[in-house]
Amino acid sequence: MKKGLVWVVIISSFITLPAAGQNLAATPPMGWNSWNHYGPNIDDKTVRATADAMVATGMKAAGYVYINIDDGWQGTRDAKGVLRPNDRFPDMKALADYVHSKGLKLGIYSSPGPKTCAGYEGSLNHEEQDARTFAEWGMDYLKYDWCQSSGTRSEMLVAYTKMRDALKKTGRPIVFSLCQYGWNKVWEWGESVGGNLWRTTGDIRDEYRVMAEIGFNQNGLEKFAGPGHWNDPDMLEVGNGGMTEDEYRTHMSLWAILAAPLIAGNDLTSMTPYTVELLTNPEVLAVDQDPLGKQGYRIAQEGPFEVWMKPMADGSKVVGLFNRQRTTEQITVEFAKLGIDGEATVRDLWLKKDLGTFKGKYSAHVPRHGVVLVRVKSK
Ligand code: GLA
Repeated sequence: MKKGLVWVVIISSFITLPAAGQNLAATPPMGWNSWNHYGPNIDDKTVRATADAMVATGMKAAGYVYINIDDGWQGTRDAKGVLRPNDRFPDMKALADYVHSKGLKLGIYSSPGPKTCAGYEGSLNHEEQDARTFAEWGMDYLKYDWCQSSGTRSEMLVAYTKMRDALKKTGRPIVFSLCQYGWNKVWEWGESVGGNLWRTTGDIRDEYRVMAEIGFNQNGLEKFAGPGHWNDPDMLEVGNGGMTEDEYRTHMSLWAILAAPLIAGNDLTSMTPYTVELLTNPEVLAVDQDPLGKQGYRIAQEGPFEVWMKPMADGSKVVGLFNRQRTTEQITVEFAKLGIDGEATVRDLWLKKDLGTFKGKYSAHVPRHGVVLVRVKSK
């Protein structure tokens, strides 16, 4: 082939090969994943109970859709190489039918390597076969986790493209979640391999220090996210018990400002009213799910005090006043930093309360490790 022709072929293959889930994830995916609470000890019964709880607690009504099985479901391959679940999952198709009957969607997990992170069977050299199996079961979401000690950008491009194509070939819309801990600046190429979301960091833990380090470090990645393709700072720890209520409120507020996927990681069958309120506050979820799909960013910082902003489709600006210090402090947002000249109305999204009209700036007392989350609208 002539050089020019080669380029035409390469370029047109990008144009004619859309991502497996191009129309999926128009807003950041919302759901639940088994890992943060159950680790590899997940089973059919727990997944069903979680689906029931997602409906009963109002989480489904609030917008949560995906029930994702993480690592630990896999058994062995049969003589033809078809991957079977282990005995904790007697019938994946029946499980998917059950989850679908609740108006929810089911997700699954695999790895492009020979083994998953928890040592189960990976999809290496079985990509098409596994994608077919997942589609036949009725899976709607695949988290594809690198689980190898190293990997170059080109190795990752090859591996993720292979699964992207395999998913596409099934004809079933399946959200494609890349998990490789943000190595090789995945945000620069995640969309080109069909990723609807890609992890930007190592694993979260149920600790303020780790959550804050991950969340506040997302600044600068905002230009890589948008409808159909999102930065993923990892799943939620809200409700798992390792943080204070204010710290979990910070977690939720920051993830909403970041337009992050909201994948709950707690036991949905036993939640305190506070956990339910944190996970389902409609005005906070509307920040995350705003159709403009802009990821927010930091607009001011003074030591442990940070001011973040997310532009919304209606022209308003959502502002998070974050206090990373151990004492209550007053934090101010200058409206000029929001592109607002003069007066603006301010509404507190956690309190669901209009605070009035302010001129030039708004200040609030923010508790230790806490946040005040407001929506500011120019008058
Ligand atoms: C990695 C991922 C986690 C989880 C585990 C499962 O650590 O980052 O989110 O999927 O593997 O083994």
